[in-house]
Amino acid sequence: MSTIDWANLGFGYMKTDFNVRCYYRNGKWGEIEASDSEYIPLHIAATALHYGQEAFEGLKAFRGKDGQIRIFRLEDNALRMQSSSRGILMAEVPVDIFSNAVKKAVKLNERFVPPYGSGAALYIRPLLIGSGPQVGVRPAEEYLFLVFVTPVGPYFKAGFKPTPVMVTREFDRAAPQGTGNIKVGGNYAASLRAGVKAHALGYSAVLYLDPKEKKYIDECGPANFYGIKNNCYITPASSSILPSITNKSLMQLAEDMGLTIERRRVSFEELATFEEAGQCGTAAVISPIERIDDADNGTSFVYSKDGEPGPVSKNLYQKLRAIQYGDDVDPYGWITIVD
Ligand code: PLP
Ligand code: COI
Repeated sequence: MSTIDWANLGFGYMKTDFNVRCYYRNGKWGEIEASDSEYIPLHIAATALHYGQEAFEGLKAFRGKDGQIRIFRLEDNALRMQSSSRGILMAEVPVDIFSNAVKKAVKLNERFVPPYGSGAALYIRPLLIGSGPQVGVRPAEEYLFLVFVTPVGPYFKAGFKPTPVMVTREFDRAAPQGTGNIKVGGNYAASLRAGVKAHALGYSAVLYLDPKEKKYIDECGPANFYGIKNNCYITPASSSILPSITNKSLMQLAEDMGLTIERRRVSFEELATFEEAGQCGTAAVISPIERIDDADNGTSFVYSKDGEPGPVSKNLYQKLRAIQYGDDVDPYGWITIVD
């Protein structure tokens, strides 16, 4: 434990002391239980294994200068997991069970919450799976909700430095009216081929176009997209992207900094007009985009020539981090203190 190099953590799994679990059986949720095992006993015909009844969340806890632990936008994540449940017909985890399970998982692993100033955070991974058996394609009757945590550093190795991303029309991560707007594992399975290809070519992520017409910007593999121009924060509206809680927070912060906000379709051609662009998400935080290469026809859109983030991205990053770590007061009610 004393050997954790907090300042140099990557984004990966590290064993912690406990996870918490709660089962839905016979039409009702049971008690939240702690476990020190990293494994779950699972029926061989569980619907999660065969038919992809699985959804997850990602949120973070931060240790402040005052030593307190702050969880960012807990209730928003609880509500998004409910929306994922409705999307693939799983039992919905009530907000109080979700919140209590997350708080318990953090509390039981308090010693893994990185120290203030390290730049790291405790990543919280709630997971809901169809644990009951089916052989026909039907929803399960039993579900397992679990929460594990793991200390993490930046998702992209560069941290808060611009990285290149790649557009391709070769793969889609989600269908136009499919599951792109909920956080189910199948979307990530569908993104693996494009993601691995992009990484091999030196890109941090794939920027997906809308799957129907390939005319509009959707989002990046693990994060939403935003562009900045003329003091305006512009981010795609699409039925096939995840409603990012980080993006929602940045829209609020940008508005309060005096920017105008536009959440609308963003055409591929509009990429040429942005002064700054970035990826945003819980894991990605803000990851400025250095340039976007169109892998299919060789064009590039460049946003950073000196390897530095643009001024608006920098301001947004600092403001968001300050609220998350408790350096600034939280006027929005985004923080839950773990006591
Ligand atoms: N888009 C995708 C596909 C994601 O996996 C994530 C990560 O959760 C996001 C966007 C960002 O969402 P959030 O800010 O809620 O973490
Ligand atoms: C997150 O940002 O929490 C994510 O879930 C993105 C990725 C790690 C899947």
